[in-house]
Amino acid sequence: MPNPTPRKPVYVLNGPNLNLLGKRQPEIYGHETLEDVAEACAALAEDLGLTIRFHQTNHEGALIDWIHQARDQGAGIVINPAAYTHTSVAILDALNAFDGPVIEVHISNVHKRETFRHHSYVSLRADGVIAGCGTEGYRLALRRIATLLAKT
Ligand code: DQA
Repeated sequence: MPNPTPRKPVYVLNGPNLNLLGKRQPEIYGHETLEDVAEACAALAEDLGLTIRFHQTNHEGALIDWIHQARDQGAGIVINPAAYTHTSVAILDALNAFDGPVIEVHISNVHKRETFRHHSYVSLRADGVIAGCGTEGYRLALRRIATLLAKT
């Protein structure tokens, strides 16, 4: 049932190279573009009674700035930090300063891939992690955020 109470938006944040979704390594990441993902997320969010702010950047600091913005303006965060997952203490620190639910998404199953992808700094903060479900992972993450927000 859609939630009639107006809520702060859920931030859906995407890290480096995800702007090339559909073009880069489609055997791993599929043929859908990030625009397709944004549209599917917006449609599902409406069904769930959520609003979203969907962003992508190739810059670590920009991701951190959106996470900071979400501290005041966001109800939850869905984040695919892409390669920064495996390297960024700064993104972990920013997420640790955010109080709402955080779901980490990876389109590919990072655990089936190179060992350097097996470790995630972001997982130290994430309330849930979805990997290997393709772009459907974003929709699964939004459903989980809706469940968690309904409890608050
Ligand atoms: C990714 C997995 C990361 O290891 C990789 O660097 C990406 C995308 C994924 O969605 O599967 O860029 O986060």
